Amino acid sequence: MDATTVLKVQKHYPVLLKEIISVISPQHGGTFIDCTFGQGGYTKQILNFENTNVIALDRDIDSKKIANQLKENYEDRFIFKNIKFSQLNNLKLRNENIRGIIFDLGYSYTQIKDPQKGLSFQSGGELNMQLGLNSYSAEDAINKLDEKELEKIFKYFGDEKEAKYIAHNIIKERSRNKITTKGLVEIIDKSKKRKNFKVHNATKVFQALRIFVNKEISELIFGLINAAKVLKKGGILGVVTFHSLEDKIVKYFFKSLSENKSISRYSPFVKQSDTLFNLIQKKPITPTAEEVSENPPSRSAKFRYGIKKTDFYNFDTDIEKKFRNYIEIENYGDKL
Ligand SMILES: C[S@@+](CC[C@H](N)C(=O)[O-])C[C@H]1O[C@@H](n2cnc3c(N)ncnc32)[C@H](O)[C@@H]1O
Repeated sequence: MDATTVLKVQKHYPVLLKEIISVISPQHGGTFIDCTFGQGGYTKQILNFENTNVIALDRDIDSKKIANQLKENYEDRFIFKNIKFSQLNNLKLRNENIRGIIFDLGYSYTQIKDPQKGLSFQSGGELNMQLGLNSYSAEDAINKLDEKELEKIFKYFGDEKEAKYIAHNIIKERSRNKITTKGLVEIIDKSKKRKNFKVHNATKVFQALRIFVNKEISELIFGLINAAKVLKKGGILGVVTFHSLEDKIVKYFFKSLSENKSISRYSPFVKQSDTLFNLIQKKPITPTAEEVSENPPSRSAKFRYGIKKTDFYNFDTDIEKKFRNYIEIENYGDKL
């Protein structure tokens, strides 16, 4: 999502809501996991259907307030857990009939408007960017990582062409002063040779730092693996992404698990090896022109989903290996 546009939007819109509800079809009842509860946009819609249960997760403790309100109306059908979705497998769900698991990645309007979270270069807040349950902030990263590490973060997570100069100028500046949000924007402005009048100069670096601080790539990869484990036969795994790296990972995950034989090695009960997912459509579902005009940040949303073909929870995937480079960059944070 583009932080500039988000700040202009006045309220929270659940992205692709109609399309997602049509795919997961809660009218038939069952248990659903909303991995990114946020303001509860998807959860509320699912709970509107009788015979549904929702287990909702969010790493941001602020979501708990909305969850508590919802609990008053749906005490027996709704549970909220303040955990990261990569820890989905700790929910001990083996015997639940999970019919759908949904991820709506990124952050919400409320989060980007919160100066304490410091997600936006326009919010005037601290250089923070922690969505919740983090181990370090953007300020730690900017003030403690070395030049090469910062360069890689900006290059790989932000696709920032001027990553090298920006990293170099950060190191120079931080030997004199601690770098704040405002200071970082000034360094980026000074470092960029080419000005882009459509997108703010700081957009890419801020996106990169947010991904790094929240380990968004590792979260996504391990979230997908664990979701595919707990889902039952016929269950739907659906993901809304907002930038090309997220979409590349989700696309690869579904493609490889619907084309490569992935479940025989671990499953003595399967006679022939088989694939884990059925893909009904290869192209992602995107918002209508009407949705984009009402909620401009939705323009970059892509929804992909797969239907699990078996109850087996052990399967082969090379997704970690494939995106190891990104996971290794996120692991620079281990020393902070
Ligand atoms: C785009 S918002 C979801 C909005 C929601 N679908 C709605 O309609 O209200 C994304 C949410 O996911 C949460 N989130 C992001 N990464 C997460 C993770 N790794 N584990 C759990 N929650 C996460 C964020 O805190 C945020 O509340």
